[in-house]
Amino acid sequence: MIRSFLTAGLAALATTAWADDTKFSTHLHAKFHHSACLTCHQFFTKNIAGTGKKGLAWNTHFARKKQACTECHTSAVTSMEKAEDWFADHELDYTGMGPKETCEFIKTTHHGKTGTPAAMLSHLLTDPRIMWSIKGGLPNAGNLPMGKKAELIPGDIDEWRTQVAAWINGGMKCE
Ligand code: HEC
Ligand code: HEC
Repeated sequence: MIRSFLTAGLAALATTAWADDTKFSTHLHAKFHHSACLTCHQFFTKNIAGTGKKGLAWNTHFARKKQACTECHTSAVTSMEKAEDWFADHELDYTGMGPKETCEFIKTTHHGKTGTPAAMLSHLLTDPRIMWSIKGGLPNAGNLPMGKKAELIPGDIDEWRTQVAAWINGGMKCE
């Protein structure tokens, strides 16, 4: 009894001490791959890698164009200051990629806005779409039209800020 308690305690201690916050794989990878982020990033994907599914543009959101999003995802729904910030785009999909690939992808996608530490920090801590996906990021985080609600990524905005800062200050390692 005492022995198993001790062993469990030591194992917990070891995990805490050795979890390297500077690696993308430690906390951020799982969060990036949560549905709150991915459903948008997969929006226009016709065949989502390894899932047998199609992005929303191909089913519930059939044929909806970029400009039309705000007809339903209004500022009142999302609590984004500018309603137009609610949109999706092509070539944002990183479904099924491992930590290294996901990390390299977000640094080098065609938008090319997040390649430097300053730009990455600014995007991950202020982008309204990201704030919408995290508890405490926006007043209406997770809110969808017709009173629906998306599941938010695990953890709150303070935890996100801490984990993002640790990764960026640690050199944005793609491990
Ligand atoms: C409402 C849809 C939406 C949600 C929700 C969303 N994103 Fe995005 N994301 C986008 C769009 C659209 C862009 C491109 C922005 C641009 O071109 O200015 C983008 C760009 C990015 C980029 C910049 C790199 C690139 O590919 O251009 C990163 C990194 C990113 N998103 C991560 C996330 C993470 C992490 C989450 C969840 C915490 C998330 N996004 C939630 C739509 C979304
Ligand atoms: C006609 C109204 C309408 C329009 C236009 C619309 N949506 Fe939606 N959207 C909804 C509704 C209702 C839901 C919640 C139910 C569902 O998933 O279909 C939703 C859900 C979503 C979700 C979350 C899915 C989930 O389960 O987490 C995303 C992401 C999304 N929409 C993105 C967009 C984008 C991007 C556009 C523009 C290209 C857009 N929507 C246009 C009504 C709309």
